[in-house]
Amino acid sequence: MPEQLSDVTILVTGAIHERVLARLAKEFRLVRIERADLSLVDDAVRNSVRGVSAVSGITASFIDGLPKLEIVANFGVGYDGVDARHAGGKNIMVTNTPDVLTEEVADTAIGLLLNTLREFSRAENWLRDGRWVKEGPYPLTRATLRGRKIGIVGMGRIGKAIARRLEGFGLPIAYHNRRPAQDVSYPYFDTLGGLAHAVDTLISVAPGGAATEKMVGAAVLSALGPEGVFVNIGRGSTVDEEALAAALADGTILAAGLDVFAREPHVPQALLDLPNATLLPHVGSASVHTRNAMADLAVDNLVSWFSKRVAITPVPETAHVTAG
Ligand code: DGY
Repeated sequence: MPEQLSDVTILVTGAIHERVLARLAKEFRLVRIERADLSLVDDAVRNSVRGVSAVSGITASFIDGLPKLEIVANFGVGYDGVDARHAGGKNIMVTNTPDVLTEEVADTAIGLLLNTLREFSRAENWLRDGRWVKEGPYPLTRATLRGRKIGIVGMGRIGKAIARRLEGFGLPIAYHNRRPAQDVSYPYFDTLGGLAHAVDTLISVAPGGAATEKMVGAAVLSALGPEGVFVNIGRGSTVDEEALAAALADGTILAAGLDVFAREPHVPQALLDLPNATLLPHVGSASVHTRNAMADLAVDNLVSWFSKRVAITPVPETAHVTAG
């Protein structure tokens, strides 16, 4: 007889989308704690948790502290906040929310790129502050998208969606990735520095984690050059923010557009002080439509795991994991 989902305990760690909570409460036995900290649950709960629903903070020791854990369903495509390699080594499944946010994040990347180049936020403030009436038109922007050469860092689903859009803008595209992508014909660079030398506009969709930590640093920014524009829609941890602020301040590059930061929600004062940095509060996928779809996929993974014993969107590190 298939087991009742209402007998399965799912632990939610920290703040998560309301729809995730509502659906989990309907289907499962739901336990909530304010952060991924095992001192917040008693032994009875600890020994009964079979699934975790989270945004981040799922470390190896947290996983080790839950003896019955079978699956961690991450809300978000980026899962650098979950130790997936450790989970995979213990036959514990990790899922994320790919595809459903691809087009939204790509749209945001284009908006951020255009805003960074053409200063729309600042131009709107000029209007709202009455300066159009008092002082005349907003100054011509120093930067333009026209004539730019685009380099995309991370040619996965979102990188490809951004590239498709930029093809429509008539711009040449090249990319850097761990390995060449199978289904694109854009020029490939096997180093980030090589790509930065060849283009003037770098758009990063790179995932977080040890392998990409601070990979965009002084050398890459200097290779991008004085007309250079850097846009980050991936993870803040991939950038040396001190080096970026210095490069923007001294003209090593022209401008940056950032949706992600190393220590969110904290943004370094050095970046806040720069007029040539366009800063967004991690809104890449943040529409009602797309966050609902992400919430559904996160919960559907748990439902599928405990009813059909398969995950819908396993991450590569746990693709081999099977239900016991
Ligand atoms: C993700 O899904 O990883 C995004 O960063 C959330 O907006």
